[in-house]
Amino acid sequence: MTLTIPNKPRAVTPHTILVELLHNTLQLARSTNTSEEVLTSLQQIYTLAAGLEPYLNEYTTPESDALTALAQKTSQEDWSKRFSDGETVRQLEQEMLSGHVEGQTLKMFVHMTKAKRVLEVGMFTGYSALAMAEALPSDGILVACEVDSYVASFAQTCFQNSPHGSKIRVEVAPALDTLHKLAQQGESFDLIFIDADKKEYVKYFNIILDSNLLAPGGLICVDNTLMQGQVYLPSEQRSVNGQAIAEFNRVVASDSCVEQVILPLRDGVTLIRKV
Ligand SMILES: C[S@@+](CC[C@H](N)C(=O)[O-])C[C@H]1O[C@@H](n2cnc3c(N)ncnc32)[C@H](O)[C@@H]1O
Repeated sequence: MTLTIPNKPRAVTPHTILVELLHNTLQLARSTNTSEEVLTSLQQIYTLAAGLEPYLNEYTTPESDALTALAQKTSQEDWSKRFSDGETVRQLEQEMLSGHVEGQTLKMFVHMTKAKRVLEVGMFTGYSALAMAEALPSDGILVACEVDSYVASFAQTCFQNSPHGSKIRVEVAPALDTLHKLAQQGESFDLIFIDADKKEYVKYFNIILDSNLLAPGGLICVDNTLMQGQVYLPSEQRSVNGQAIAEFNRVVASDSCVEQVILPLRDGVTLIRKV
């Protein structure tokens, strides 16, 4: 039997990048003339940092079999191959998948808010959508916006393996179009998870606030609001996405109609509510 070994994900969060840098620094220190005292200290720092994620994973409620299968299928896909033809495309990669601890956190938010209607902006292969759907009541619905038809059908195939998949309705179109359409149709949601194009975050936020898309008392969750630490690193080290997220965080922080908190979970998750 041939076993497919999942590709190892890149470090894409402030914490995993920090662990990788510490690991490299420790290796460097070991190969150079570094004092025992500094080596011992570096080893302690590395052990403290590197132990956090495995511990969070171990002591967080395990994901469902359907989510494990979806994550495995995502990690086995060669995303680079799909885009090697030079098409103008959005680059997709397995690291986009939020994963176990963030998925369980989102699921917990759905339970805590007693949400019956959830909107996801940016679905990828469907991990966070399915995690949240698992917490919805049987008559609950999750509308997922995704622009890429390939990942949309990839996700829909995975949803068929879960009893909760039927709660998910996928809208394949640019998210801004779908948000305008849903707003015009008078739809509203108890929880909205934003995780699509970072450069459009401010627009998503404005449409949500200017329409009735967010139900009274509703919660907005926004992913990647630390953007690998770029938001607090010197601005010349920021990518286009880093700059966009720094601007998004500034817009939210200066809006007196909302209150918010940035949780240092994975790549940063901001919770926002209208006041
Ligand atoms: C970070 S991934 C979403 C990850 C997913 N929420 C999860 O946790 O597994 C971002 C997704 O947004 C999609 N996307 C990017 N720009 C978009 C747009 N303008 N409209 C809709 N979807 C978009 C991408 O194709 C990608 O699948």
